[in-house]
Amino acid sequence: MTLDSFPSDTKMAYRNLDRIIKGQPTSDGAGVCLTRYIGSSDLNYLDPFLLLDFFESDNPDDYIAGFPSHPHRGFETVTYLFAGRVRHEDSVGHEGIIEAGGVQWMTAGRGIIHSEMPEQEKGRLAGVQLWVNLPSVDKMCQPIYHEYPATDIPVEIRDNGIRIQVIAGSTSTPIHGPVSGVATDPLYLDVTLPAGCSVSEPLPNSHAAFIFVIEGNLSLISGSSSCPIAAKQLGVLNNEGDCFLVRAGDASARFLFVAARPLNEPIVRYGPFVMNTKTEIQQAINDYNAGRF
Ligand code: CO
Repeated sequence: MTLDSFPSDTKMAYRNLDRIIKGQPTSDGAGVCLTRYIGSSDLNYLDPFLLLDFFESDNPDDYIAGFPSHPHRGFETVTYLFAGRVRHEDSVGHEGIIEAGGVQWMTAGRGIIHSEMPEQEKGRLAGVQLWVNLPSVDKMCQPIYHEYPATDIPVEIRDNGIRIQVIAGSTSTPIHGPVSGVATDPLYLDVTLPAGCSVSEPLPNSHAAFIFVIEGNLSLISGSSSCPIAAKQLGVLNNEGDCFLVRAGDASARFLFVAARPLNEPIVRYGPFVMNTKTEIQQAINDYNAGRF
């Protein structure tokens, strides 16, 4: 079947670039150096994404202090490592090590207290942490963990050596990621494109979406427009259209493509607590202080 034989209403609408976020160097936890893209003054909230941090260093001084015990309530934290090892322990006895290529999708729900510490004293540590908001009906759910090592994350290899690791959601093939049952119906892909190659994938119309370029540079193509996104930049897509098309520049490129359904609910943030009202934030503080997490 040729493209011409599809009725016109099945024509795909390509997403355009809304803006580029260059990220702000900051430190968090007990002094971990990182770059913040979402949750910063440049982009406070990309509904449902509350925060996106990127960290990458081979200097232990930048990461060794880690993130000692701290609480979360009302959202999900998603940690995806490119290099190194991170030990995770929480207040209800859950523990594990996230290794390079592995992901931990933690639904904090009503609350956990956990630590996230480097499981290494030297060498390279690199990865991203994303915070995904929960709808009001799920904010007080019991904590849930999805943890998958690299070997549990399916890899789709396409023509020309295009490589897609599927963490959440599905590709058009379809290859399904191991993370499922998430309220915001996310798509989370880690894509490697050889120089000059293109990839296109569908996504639900109106899902919020971003591209984070890990290395190389690429362009988001829509009709006659071609918008470059450089390494270590976040490209925020506009919210209309049901597919995206990306082309690598003159070197290979690796990027994350992440999309999820906006919640369109009011939010009140207070550090590691994200709720819908000030009263609920006060309740979170009271519960934490009273040892009810
Ligand atoms: Co945490």
